[in-house]
Amino acid sequence: MILVTGGAGFIGGNFVLDWLANPHAEGVVNLDKLTYAGNLATLQSLSADDRHIFVQGDIGDYELVLSLLKKHAIRAVVNFAAESHVDRSIHGPGDFIQTNVLGTFNLLEAVRAFWSDLSEEGKQQFRFLHVSTDEVYGSLSATDPAFSETNPYEPNSPYSASKAASDHLVRAWHHTYGLPVLTTNCSNNYGPYHFPEKLIPLVILNALAGKPLPIYGDGQQIRDWLYVKDHCSAIRRVLEAGKLGETYNVGGWNEKPNLDVVHTICSILDSLRPKADGTSYATQITYVKDRPGHDRRYAIDATKLERELGWKPAETFETGIQKTVQWYLDNQEWTEGVLSGSYRDWVKKQYS
Ligand code: NAD
Ligand code: DAU
Repeated sequence: MILVTGGAGFIGGNFVLDWLANPHAEGVVNLDKLTYAGNLATLQSLSADDRHIFVQGDIGDYELVLSLLKKHAIRAVVNFAAESHVDRSIHGPGDFIQTNVLGTFNLLEAVRAFWSDLSEEGKQQFRFLHVSTDEVYGSLSATDPAFSETNPYEPNSPYSASKAASDHLVRAWHHTYGLPVLTTNCSNNYGPYHFPEKLIPLVILNALAGKPLPIYGDGQQIRDWLYVKDHCSAIRRVLEAGKLGETYNVGGWNEKPNLDVVHTICSILDSLRPKADGTSYATQITYVKDRPGHDRRYAIDATKLERELGWKPAETFETGIQKTVQWYLDNQEWTEGVLSGSYRDWVKKQYS
């Protein structure tokens, strides 16, 4: 079996669903703390699938992790578990240090203890894949080349600093102890089951609810957008054939200013779900206070992954965003479940 951490979150949940869509795939032990971002509704279609074992727990719980590794004879760990939202890290960095830094440390220690006791063959076959972000590389100017794996780390937010710290721990556990690790650094994901604190789902759901579409600052910050299923296929590929100790950048080759992303969503909604008054959803766009320390541009150079492992994204932004908007229109039950009291508290704190 494989152990997936954070598999009730956005990317982890998509990864587990995609993995188990293959009838020949190994089973998944899914360890998730079920923070505000974890949602079992995402995994509902697996409720009768014996290959999926869900465990509510913390990656920082050494004893729990070690017992799961032993009990299920885990062959690989894919670590998605993290606090992931930049704005929340600005309001309260403590949880980010706790999970992303200390949690990763404890997870690595439990994995090291388990791995050290494996047979030579078991040791060689074992993998620890750490899922990280392009934000560790800092911010680019309009003319800088895209981030490659050799860019220096220059994290700017409490979130990206905590992810950078976790990447360094993973690297050191390979260098010092020989733990068979792989690290992926990817750009902004979007797609089904995305928690609506992040730009794309927030804009879709606010638009449909007739609420303002908040644009931080001038809306000209650039992100590279990666459809989540492409990210999942990249992780599977790296897990299968990645070179131990290496890092791989994963990107969608889709750099877009935020304002363009929001206009694209509005025009898709204008055609799929026209407003009764005949106006465009774009009339709901509202400029709000900028994010402190807001990174201007991220861009990923994913040529290493293509050259060495033959991976390329299947979706363009145009195809991926169309599917995403349609998914939110078709899955209102999921979103209604997510828009709970604690989500409303967050919106009040961030946007009032
Ligand atoms: P998410 O916030 O949607 O989900 C995180 C999941 O981790 C949740 O289910 C949560 O309950 C769980 N979790 C949090 N703390 C935990 C702990 N201590 N122990 C066990 N589980 C815990 O995040 P996401 O967007 O799915 O991101 C997954 C990973 O990918 C993160 O490591 C993130 O840094 C990285 N990443 C995300 C993006 C993106 O665009 N979303 C891009 C690059 C990298
Ligand atoms: O680059 C990868 C990262 O992408 C991941 O590591 C993070 O986990 C993930 O949350 C994401 O970070 P961003 O900060 O880029 O994503 P977010 O969706 O929060 O914001 C995208 C851009 O949109 C960013 O420039 C801020 C802006 N924004 C965001 C929100 C929520 C707005 O203008 N208005 C908003 O209301």
